[in-house]
Amino acid sequence: MALMTLEEKIGQMTLFTTDWGSTGPTIREGYEEDIRKGNCGALFNSHTVAFTRHLQEIAVKESRLHIPLIFGYDVIHGYKTIFPVPLAESCSWDLAAMENTAAIAAKEAAAAGLHWTFAPMVDISREPRWGRVMEGGGEDTYLGSLIAEARVKGFQGANFDHADRVMACIKHFAGYGAPIAGRDYNTVDMTERTFRDIYLPTYIAGVKAGAMTIMTSFNELDGVPSSGNKWLLEDVLRKENGFHGFIVTDYTSINEMVNHGYSKDDAQAGEQAANAGVDMDMQGAVYQRFLKNSVEAGRVPMQKIDDAVRRILTAKFELGLFKDPYRFCNVQREKETVFSAAHQQAAKDMAHKSIVLLKNENNLLPLTNKKTIALIGPLAADGSQLIGPWSGAGEGDKCVSMLTAFQERAKKGEFTLLHANGTDISGTDKKGFGEALEKAKQSDVIIAVVGESKEMSGEAAARADLGLPGVQQALVEELVATGKPVVVVLMNGRPLVIPWIAEHANAIVETWWTGTQGGPAIADILFGDYNPSAKLTMTFPRSMGQIPIFYNQKNTGRPYDPNSKWNTRYLDEPNTPQYPFGYGLSYTTFAYDSLVITIQQKASASTPRPPSKGEEFSVTDTVHASIKITNTGKRAGEEIVQLYVRDLVGSVTRPVKELKGFKKIKLEPGASQTVVFNITADQLRFYSADMTFKAEPGDFWIMVGPDSERLQKKQIRLVE
Ligand code: BGC
Repeated sequence: MALMTLEEKIGQMTLFTTDWGSTGPTIREGYEEDIRKGNCGALFNSHTVAFTRHLQEIAVKESRLHIPLIFGYDVIHGYKTIFPVPLAESCSWDLAAMENTAAIAAKEAAAAGLHWTFAPMVDISREPRWGRVMEGGGEDTYLGSLIAEARVKGFQGANFDHADRVMACIKHFAGYGAPIAGRDYNTVDMTERTFRDIYLPTYIAGVKAGAMTIMTSFNELDGVPSSGNKWLLEDVLRKENGFHGFIVTDYTSINEMVNHGYSKDDAQAGEQAANAGVDMDMQGAVYQRFLKNSVEAGRVPMQKIDDAVRRILTAKFELGLFKDPYRFCNVQREKETVFSAAHQQAAKDMAHKSIVLLKNENNLLPLTNKKTIALIGPLAADGSQLIGPWSGAGEGDKCVSMLTAFQERAKKGEFTLLHANGTDISGTDKKGFGEALEKAKQSDVIIAVVGESKEMSGEAAARADLGLPGVQQALVEELVATGKPVVVVLMNGRPLVIPWIAEHANAIVETWWTGTQGGPAIADILFGDYNPSAKLTMTFPRSMGQIPIFYNQKNTGRPYDPNSKWNTRYLDEPNTPQYPFGYGLSYTTFAYDSLVITIQQKASASTPRPPSKGEEFSVTDTVHASIKITNTGKRAGEEIVQLYVRDLVGSVTRPVKELKGFKKIKLEPGASQTVVFNITADQLRFYSADMTFKAEPGDFWIMVGPDSERLQKKQIRLVE
């Protein structure tokens, strides 16, 4: 650093994108010169060994100080092998599996010359209109925090010794998942308590798991845009939570502080960002253009620049780039690793775990003894949709569609397959209905594959109507009217509002976007080669008017009573969701015995307490909530057993339930297992009236069950 000029330091704080044209990678005019002059220290969207090596050579051979570049990319749910979208993966509740897919994504990315992924997105969201819920881990803070940790570990691994992992980037800090009315980039406004209780913990979980970088968000929080929010970046993130890595902005979010009305021009925005603790400017070129002047004029202390550069160079050292700038550039490894057969299998395994069975009237599924199957709908044949949004270097035409998977099975003579699109995803064209209905009528069962196009979720993809787009529902209605059994297979990136389908389809399978191996994985579920085990991590509303709807709401002074008027309710809709958080079916059934609570006193407690009265416990005790689960069906299956807690009286009001634990168990038919949850006072902490984070003595309900609604409860008391 002592050798560096101020311009070179600011260069390290500058991140630019490259592009990818139809003939391959391209770079904008002037950027190569920027690299040569040391005015750009990192690039994103540059990938493949050949391209990154070319750019790295410019930095290392031609710049004055030979400082290597970092290459970043949005490897959100896979690099070339595409896994289910993160919301889908979260429905597996399988942390090890999520860590594994992140590790594979990292291995492919690192083999393709990358050092850094802009993931995981850990924004908690209760807002299905917001298109980016597909990138996150759902609506719950506790589960979301564990997922954040698992994915950071997966991406980063223990170290970079083998150059086969990438730096993680927790995003978008902070509160990006709570835009007013669900519109992307919109204002976020909440109390500090809600922020700390609900939205902040997932980011901090990622930080504690060792994430080396974090990305600011586009939104403002309490009137201050994140990229200029000193409280958020310096106080909360660095001082309170000990974040040591570097902070990058989101795409041109420093510049956007002018539109926010927080900065009078780019130059001031850059000063505000630098003074707030932003280390790296993504694509805005604000630092590059103005920061030198701001430092020289004394409006940004040199110390801020040095701190930022030290953090960025530290990351480059940790990646091993100063030892060998080309250690991520091995063509042979790239060939062997990217899109390998083993990774295809992993993608299929994860897809199995991510698919949620929402309805299965009269055990219509799995499909057995069906002679003729009609596969209908605009998403059955179009495999390219399966990769979903933010699919890295994934190629749609490498995805195996449902139609292909069904054709493979039909070839074996198991059944006769009829197929028709029926209609497009959007639009009003019903010309294909006739053919679809004709085929449907000849079949024993109709599979209707409907949903969103991948462009309808993701960034800048908010929707005001979450019904099926186009005339897809009309198609399903006509299919149902044939009287044949109808299985609706949904592909989409968010909870949809589908009350008619929920009532009239005989079976519903939520597949989200299942990635490269989506088609075969869905077929495995439908034919019973895999018994579905996933459960929803976002609530499905009955109607748009219910949004935001989420499971951990407050009781209010007039709790919901559908039979009287003067309480918190709608006149025209129940408060209950279509499908609650934590819900999902299996091809087998599970019986829950009675919940048993026991208290274990801390063995080493210095002053032994008199034996408790059963339901009382102190801050040093552990409460065991145990419950025996039996597989009462005919197939082996997995169950996600969930633990919720309610704090009945607080110095501030508390939600009616909060997830505090879960266990995923596998049981053979007839087999039982007792699941035990350990609860200590630590898990009951929240931001109390004086904003201290603590558990308050008093009564709690401990609730256990298969989803957030079907719960058994027992009351316990925390004593001082
Ligand atoms: C998105 C980020 C992403 C970045 C770089 C932005 O528009 O909000 O999530 O990492 O672009 O591609």
